[in-house]
Formats: sequence, structure tokens, C-alpha cells
Amino acid sequence: MSRRVLRLLLLTGWGLASSALGQTGPVEDLNALPASEIYQRACAACHGPDGRGYPGGEWRERTGLLTPPPDFTDPKFNSREPLADWVIVIRDGGRVLGLSPQMPSFGLVLAEAKIRELARYLKSFGNDARYPPGELNFHRGHRTTKAFPEDELLLISSYERTRSGGTVFRETLYYAHRLGPRYQWEVKGTPTFTTGEAVSGEVEVGLKWAVAYDLAQRWIFTVGLEPAFPVRSDEKWSATLYSTFGKALGDRWTLQSSLYLKWSPPEGAEGWTLRWSGVVHGIFTSARRGLFPALEWTVERGLHAGARTQVWLLPQVYAALSRRGHVALSVGPEIPVRRDPDVRFRIRAFLLWDYADGPFWVGW
Ligand code: HEC
Repeated sequence: MSRRVLRLLLLTGWGLASSALGQTGPVEDLNALPASEIYQRACAACHGPDGRGYPGGEWRERTGLLTPPPDFTDPKFNSREPLADWVIVIRDGGRVLGLSPQMPSFGLVLAEAKIRELARYLKSFGNDARYPPGELNFHRGHRTTKAFPEDELLLISSYERTRSGGTVFRETLYYAHRLGPRYQWEVKGTPTFTTGEAVSGEVEVGLKWAVAYDLAQRWIFTVGLEPAFPVRSDEKWSATLYSTFGKALGDRWTLQSSLYLKWSPPEGAEGWTLRWSGVVHGIFTSARRGLFPALEWTVERGLHAGARTQVWLLPQVYAALSRRGHVALSVGPEIPVRRDPDVRFRIRAFLLWDYADGPFWVGW
């Protein structure tokens, strides 16, 4: 292949993709070029000269790809992807994160530092500080509210053994949807099946707002409001106001901690209840798929005279199942630290699908 043809190929971007596959000899050290130049030569053919990926269906004729390239200028998409994931994809190709294998790997042609520079350059396409970055999207616990605004669907199960020998089984369908840069609305429906009783239930709605975050310090702070309404049950309606703080503790651990204040029309002295929950996850792999051990705690107390303090511990495993990490399962027993007069123990589980990261069955 003549040098001219090669250079032409490089200019159109396809050259590097194929040289990444080892089909061409050394031509020019791309590592000497600035990220913007590498982008135009090696990425723009598929991702578009402006990083928008030829929107409006144009990508079909232009690129011959089977999966549309993402729009890097969309701040919602751009912000929710951690920089480290993009480094992995550029270095090792789309396949490692369950993305299209047509996204080539550049680890053989580009140095790690250059790949990071490129990833940062892509981030600059859709940079908008109103959107909290995906680095602060920490794993979810069972009792603690997630601080990051999410697009998620969850199936939450809880099986409870009571001291009187009965069982209580709850099944919650939970849908959360992001709204603008910082908000999330949600709806939860929970039927409860108790031995010897008719099915009862609860419907909860909620609004969450990510008030502030700091990427350098790696924390995010969120507040929310959740009214809950009983369905075919003698429970009262209630409203819960909460705040959640999420923080990375070094490279290996993340913490989320929520404080809840619940109000329900009083029966006698009751009315207000205060609850504090927190969860620490261990992050021992840079892959999205993996097992992440966690420990969660809950301390709850009614704010009326003579109320009891309840303390629960919930050791759990968060199993990110898909390569993209967008489908995950978490299971753990919830154990009372002080003897609970009603409940012997509880087992909680949830199946999570982050639907903004793609269909349930894609990315495995
Ligand atoms: C042959 C076409 C092609 C080339 C060349 C290419 N990409 Fe891609 N890239 C894709 C496709 C297609 C996707 C979408 C994968 C998906 O969503 O399944 C993608 C996805 C990505 C993603 C992942 C976004 C996400 O969803 O997390 C990053 C980052 C990326 N490309 C960066 C680059 C960079 C940087 C270059 C140049 C060095 C480059 N790409 C060159 C086709 C290409």
C-alpha cells in the first residue's frame, strides 16, 4: 500500500481503525498529535466531525455501522458516563463494556496518557456543569436512597418472618426517571402478602433533587420528598422528607447515607419518625461487571415519648451482571441488632435495570 493511500485512509479515519487491528505498519506517531487532531483522523469517520455521530439517521449511509454512535454533545449522555469507562472503551474496544464491537480498540496505537487526553476531549463536547458526573453514581443499597438522579426500573422483594410464625412478603415495582439536569421523579407500587390476611398495598411517588456535587472531592448531596398512600390497608398516608449524601472513600469504597423524617397523621402520640440509613460498598474491580460486597445499617426512632429505637444491619452483595453493569442483582438478610418484638428476620433482594444504558438483554 503506498504511503499516499495510507495517509488518505488515515485522513478519513478508517486507517487507524484498521491499523489498530495490525494491518498497517508504522506511519506516523499519532501520540505526537493533539487529541483534537487524533479525533478528526481516527474517530470522526464514525463519530462525526462534531462528535454528534451523524444524527437524524444520517449515520446509516455515512458510516455503515449497525449501532448508532452516541451523541457526545448531549450533556445528559456525556455526563453520566465516567471518564474511566471511556478510557477502557477507547483502549480495549466497545466489546469489553458490552457495547458494539464496531467500536475499535486503540490500545495498540495510542499510549494510555493519550487515550485519557482523548477521553477528556470527548468530555469537553458535552460539558455542562449542571449535570452531575457519572463518577458520583454509586451503587444502590436497600434502605438508603441513591444520591444520583437515575433512569432505573427495579423489582424489589422482601420476605419477612414474624415472631408469631407468620410471613410477610412484599413485592415492589419501582420506576425512576430523570428530569432535566438535576431532578428525578419516581413511582413505587407495593402489594403486601401476609399469612392469613387479605392483600394490602401502598403507592409511593417521589421527587428528588441533586442540590450540589463536587467531582474533585467526589461527593454529591440530594434532597427529596416521598408521599405514600395505602391501598386496601388500615395504614395511614405519610410523607417523608429526606436528604442523601454520597461520597467516595478513597479508590475502594463508596458511602451513601440518608436521613429521613416521616410524618403520618398521628394515632395517639405518634406522628413523626426519624430514620438514618447508610451503606458502604467495596469496589475491588475497575470492570463494570462484578461482585461488590456492602454493609448497610438502619436506625429508626419515633419522635414521641416512650418510642423504641430500632437498629438493623443488612450485609449484602451487589452483583453487576451485565458487562455494561446496567443489570444488577442485590441480596442480603436484614438482621435486627436489638431484639425486634415483631420481626425475626427479613431477606431483601432487588433486580435493577438502568434502562438509559440500553435494553435489558443487550450488553451482556
Ligand atoms: C469504525 C467506527 C468507529 C470508530 C473509527 C470509532 N468509534 Fe467510537 N464508537 C463506535 C460505535 C458504533 C460506538 C457505539 C457503541 C454502542 O453504543 O454499542 C462507539 C462508542 C464509543 C464510545 C463509548 C460511548 C459509550 O456509550 O460509553 C467512546 C468513548 C468512543 N466510541 C470513542 C471513540 C474514539 C475516541 C475514537 C477514535 C480514537 C473512536 N471512538 C473511533 C464506532 C467507532
